[in-house]
Amino acid sequence: MTATRGLEGVVATTSSISSIIDDVLTYAGYNIDDLADHASFEEVVYLLWHGKLPNQSELDELTKQLAENATLPQGVLDHFTTYPIDSVHPMGALRTAVSLLGLYDEEADVMDDASNYRKAISLQAKLPTIVAAFSRIRKGLEPVAPRTDLSFSANFVYMLTGQEPDAIAIEALNKALVLHADHELNASTFTARVCVATLSDVYSGVTSAIGALKGPLHGGANEQVMKMLSEIGEVSNVEAYITEKFNNKDKIMGFGHRVYQNGDPRAKHLKKMSKELTTLTGEPKWYEMSVKIEEMVTGQKGIPANVDFYSASMYHSLGIDHDLFTPIFAVSRVSGWLAHILEQYQNNRIIRPRAEYTGPGKQTFVPIDQRA
Ligand code: CMC
Repeated sequence: MTATRGLEGVVATTSSISSIIDDVLTYAGYNIDDLADHASFEEVVYLLWHGKLPNQSELDELTKQLAENATLPQGVLDHFTTYPIDSVHPMGALRTAVSLLGLYDEEADVMDDASNYRKAISLQAKLPTIVAAFSRIRKGLEPVAPRTDLSFSANFVYMLTGQEPDAIAIEALNKALVLHADHELNASTFTARVCVATLSDVYSGVTSAIGALKGPLHGGANEQVMKMLSEIGEVSNVEAYITEKFNNKDKIMGFGHRVYQNGDPRAKHLKKMSKELTTLTGEPKWYEMSVKIEEMVTGQKGIPANVDFYSASMYHSLGIDHDLFTPIFAVSRVSGWLAHILEQYQNNRIIRPRAEYTGPGKQTFVPIDQRA
């Protein structure tokens, strides 16, 4: 038995949800470029869960269900107030809140299709409310209750800020949510599938996935990109900063990908939005710094930007706190996790690979009083 490091190139499941072939990302056959330009996030959620785009009445029904399920149990809100608020990362709070939601669901362990679909609606609806409520509570502000008359993206910003966002912010956030919704067998989705393949419940699957997304090599990269941009500060500092990173052989966050050979197709959409929004806010330096970093990293090392690179300056321009960037990724990606969880249940087999053993050879047991 020989291990494949990082499971590179291993095909671990079949799936009809999304695919990456020759650097083209599709959701159920639809090119991500078309969806980013034309679809609402709610339509994409339906597409991922049903394998087809909704007609108007199907979309209306899903939108209504999401709006009706967005309110959190008071116990979850109260729980936030018990955290050591200054040191808790919002991804930790999100992971804990999703786990806690499972305790409030008497049917958490009921495994029929209808019950699991109901949980999918509930989690998709509640993730933005959790992120927004935690963000406000830690600042000493009252949570803002969800509204049923706003789109998913508009309602999220409304719950974060207490203000109705303008059309440009809604469009930008909707596009970001569409682009992050699913991505074949990425680390967090694989985690979710491994978890539920034991026939564990939906809440456990999503809780595990949030834990995997949090890491800086996965969803946590977008926050790290903003940290890097803040450290650099000005365009004139980029060259020295990145050269030092090259010399130290440090990884540069927001670059590289296991699957794409010639670049991440999502990055160009985020780059365009970053340019527009940083110009609008009168802070083009975030975009200009990013472009210069890309010129160096891609130009000199041949490593293209990924989805997390330009999303950082884009979210910053929307006034979003930097440690909420990865939770926003989760607000979108939970749609993909849920699609994969439901798909896993439909054709389940426990996921149990092997390890290539590299430990000591045969040992003889020595009683403790005779050990050195
Ligand atoms: N900066 C500098 N060098 C890099 C980078 C980078 N961002 N990414 C890859 N490399 C180099 C790496 O050092 C290695 O070089 P060598 O062969 O000389 O040792 C080579 O490229 C292969 O890298 P790897 O880490 O073995 O590749 P991987 O497929 O295991 O990892 C990755 C993929 C995305 C984790 C990695 O590219 C990385 O760490 N990127 C930075 C973190 C990041 O932006 N993550 C977000 C990924 S996309 C969205 C998501 O999944 O959330």
